[in-house]
Amino acid sequence: MLRFLTSGESHGRGLVSILEGFPAQVPVAFGVINQDLKRRMAGYGRGARMKIESDQIEVLSGVRHGYTLGSPVAFVIWNRDWENWTGIMSAEPDPAGSEKRRVTRPRPGHADLPGGLKYQFLDMRNVLERSSARETASRVAVGGFCRLLLRELGVRIYSHTTAIKNVRISEEVLERVGIESLEQIEASEMRCADPELNQGMKAAVDRAIEQGDTIGGEFEVRALGVPVGLGSYVHWDRRLDGRLAQAVMSINAVKAVEVGSGLESDPYGSQYHDEILYDEAKREFYRRTNHAGGIEGGVSNGAEIIIRGVLKPIPTMRRALMSVDIETKEPFKAQYERSDTCVVPAAGVIGEAMVAIVLAQAFQEKFGGDTLAEMRSNLESFRERVRNL
Ligand SMILES: Cc1cc2nc3c(=O)[nH]c(=O)nc-3n(C[C@H](O)[C@H](O)[C@H](O)COP(=O)(O)O)c2cc1C
Repeated sequence: MLRFLTSGESHGRGLVSILEGFPAQVPVAFGVINQDLKRRMAGYGRGARMKIESDQIEVLSGVRHGYTLGSPVAFVIWNRDWENWTGIMSAEPDPAGSEKRRVTRPRPGHADLPGGLKYQFLDMRNVLERSSARETASRVAVGGFCRLLLRELGVRIYSHTTAIKNVRISEEVLERVGIESLEQIEASEMRCADPELNQGMKAAVDRAIEQGDTIGGEFEVRALGVPVGLGSYVHWDRRLDGRLAQAVMSINAVKAVEVGSGLESDPYGSQYHDEILYDEAKREFYRRTNHAGGIEGGVSNGAEIIIRGVLKPIPTMRRALMSVDIETKEPFKAQYERSDTCVVPAAGVIGEAMVAIVLAQAFQEKFGGDTLAEMRSNLESFRERVRNL
């Protein structure tokens, strides 16, 4: 079983991750993982924090001379900003100055109030430090290891921004998006496959900044080269669509998830479902359309996996909403601290990581082995069996 844990506070010393059950002899391209971390920090509309951080992983164990050992992989991403927070975030009892910075004013749209009440904290910094999306840097790095494994098994994962506020990619362009769009996507600050929309999306961010407001949007993650047979229909919690949906929904600010054309309730069944064809030469079944997003009955069907995430607008705004101080019970207007205005491009990168983690887990279940070579040969022999059915 492939599993992982993350630990770390937003302004703490660093983010620690452990990835367990990862096969041995997978080549580790540190540059590729660090590049994903850099991609997570990018995108037009980010706040000042991203200028302070320069995220990189430092592997502590589980990798030797560039290859995984099969033992737990442990790594840390140091928080550069910690230098400015050593007193407030100290692990020592009652550090000097911590009282002064006590957070008693919960921000609407954050975990501050429900989290503070749940854990009975009078200082909501104890909540926001962990509920912050800073933690997603860990997930991107864990996902980076999973992507390296999946890449070796022929799977490519990519994402792009499909909407920023009301600036939305057209159905026509969306239909043409594929792995060959990757260069265009990565060259665009908003990670948009349509070069015409990049400026419009940036202008939407500018308008929000001018108004002291924030915006949300949508991203799509795709996984190409996923074999048939991952996940299962035999039990609810083994369904691949359900597992992917949970993983994408777990990204901070994601409030809805769509698999394939899942949000389209208008088409007739005859327009919706993907007809089955057979390629004699390849001895493979295939589809001309992919409304199912590569999953039927909770099982991957061999087509590209397509999953979308919808982000609510960022909750911290200059145009502050009303809230109530938990100590005095007095109403107040939420204070503004430096914050992102729009994070959809970054959320796509986190989405890629979450999809990679779930797919790597599903691969491990189906083709499990202690080494990459073992997994690869299990995959190949399964493919051959399916061809000969
Ligand atoms: C990459 C990323 C960066 C984020 N940055 C901020 C931010 O700067 N300020 C903020 O208020 N919320 C930010 N958020 C959103 C909050 O983390 C999120 O809304 C909050 O934790 C509450 O969780 P929920 O929206 O999932 O309910 C960010 C989310 C992501 C994915």
